[in-house]
Amino acid sequence: MKLYASVVPLLAAAVSLATRLSTAFVKTDGQCFTLNGAPYTVFGSNSYWVGLMGLTTNEMNVTFQNIAATGATTVRTLGFNEVTTASGDYYQLWNGSTPTINYGPTGLKNFDNVVAAAKANNIRLIITLTNNWHDYGGMDVYVDQILGQGQPHDYFYTDPKVIAAYKKYVKVWIERYIDEPTIFGWELANEPRCTGSTNSATSGTCTTTTITNWVKTMSAYIKSLDCNHLVGLGDEGWFNWTNNIDASYNGSHGIDFDANLAIDTIDFGTFHLYPYSWDEETPSAMSWGQTWIKNHRNAQAMYNKPVLMEEFGLLASQDRIATYKNWYSTVIDSGLTGVLVWQAGSNLTSGPTPDDGSAIYPGTMIYEMESMYAAQLKDRNSQGLQSYDM
Ligand SMILES: *[C@@H]1O[C@H](CO)[C@@H](O)[C@H](O)[C@H]1NC(C)=O
Ligand SMILES: *[C@@H]1O[C@H](CO)[C@@H](O)[C@H](O)[C@H]1NC(C)=O
Ligand SMILES: *[C@@H]1O[C@H](CO)[C@@H](O)[C@H](O)[C@H]1NC(C)=O
Ligand SMILES: *[C@@H]1O[C@H](CO)[C@@H](O)[C@H](O)[C@H]1NC(C)=O
Ligand SMILES: *[C@@H]1O[C@H](CO)[C@@H](O)[C@H](O)[C@H]1NC(C)=O
Repeated sequence: MKLYASVVPLLAAAVSLATRLSTAFVKTDGQCFTLNGAPYTVFGSNSYWVGLMGLTTNEMNVTFQNIAATGATTVRTLGFNEVTTASGDYYQLWNGSTPTINYGPTGLKNFDNVVAAAKANNIRLIITLTNNWHDYGGMDVYVDQILGQGQPHDYFYTDPKVIAAYKKYVKVWIERYIDEPTIFGWELANEPRCTGSTNSATSGTCTTTTITNWVKTMSAYIKSLDCNHLVGLGDEGWFNWTNNIDASYNGSHGIDFDANLAIDTIDFGTFHLYPYSWDEETPSAMSWGQTWIKNHRNAQAMYNKPVLMEEFGLLASQDRIATYKNWYSTVIDSGLTGVLVWQAGSNLTSGPTPDDGSAIYPGTMIYEMESMYAAQLKDRNSQGLQSYDM
């Protein structure tokens, strides 16, 4: 009896802990995200810099406070900085072909503080684990260090030694944060393409199939280690529709949005929207973007998975306010799952956070606008996405 009596509460505690833990991660249900069985609305921003600028924990907290105050739930940030000489905050230091993980206060310990600050503000993090571009190292550092300086960018997706090195890196993050529900999910790369920005050479053989095969390999690898977290790609969302003369729709960048979204081990789709830098201003940037959003929304319905517009940004001179209103409304009215703007801004004691011309600081008109769209998107989701037709 005595023994029995002491076991019962223990069992009850174990069950309640298991229930709490298993439901505290964001999950998918058809085209929606859920948390503890209720709709989870992805609305928020990008902050690439929060873990890479030597911010104090207090400043990290202010960053997430500012974002959360708009009604945001989710922030996308970088989980990489590849360096060959130690400096600032970084995660992997390369000596020849040998990388060493930085577990210290300028590395993963610092990222622990990012996670804690996000958690204190009830924000979840999407973590992107490498970059197509040379900012903060990215793919070309793997290629250069392992295969030799200036080798083709797209060897990142095919060379077995490079793939093994990237898997090893990804595993470090997964093992550290596998039980952390503040992490919404992992993204395989920021804006993967056949071409990069440092190693302009390509093998000449990279097609959408090359990157899709890599997405299959990497997403299956993550799922084999981590069944708690969601997995997405982090791409710009290019389509590969046959006989299309538009580079955004003909697969020429090496991305086939449909093929990638169809992969079992990819939980949600991602796309970006930058009509001006993509030379897509016909009939106007605004209306090109509206169609881009709707086409991704159609793929979302076709594959029955959530899709996020996870980056879009304009300069003030680019009819920004009217265009953001149009795009946010299109997201909400079309039934697209969620949206993250590029990019968050904060006025910290050390000064304003980086501004590439599209940072949104507290007290500005767009910052105030965000709250309205966050509320509208949450309201839409509480009524159920299924009421939105294609
Ligand atoms: C880099 O590696 C080489 C040998 O592989 C070693 O001799 C050298 O000391 C290393 N450099 C650093 C800074 O660790
Ligand atoms: C961080 O922000 C949260 C929520 O705004 C607040 O409750 C907490 O006190 C802050 N923590 C620190 C260390 O400033
Ligand atoms: C687009 O997909 C087709 C297969 O449907 C493939 O043959 C073609 O190479 C792809 N286009 C590009 C540019 O990768
Ligand atoms: C895709 O479109 C771009 C821009 O029109 C063009 O330069 C390229 O040749 C096209 N590629 C394919 C594979 O059709
Ligand atoms: C924050 O800084 C930005 C850029 O320096 C400025 O435009 C904005 O007015 C500031 N906001 C507040 C609340 O001080």
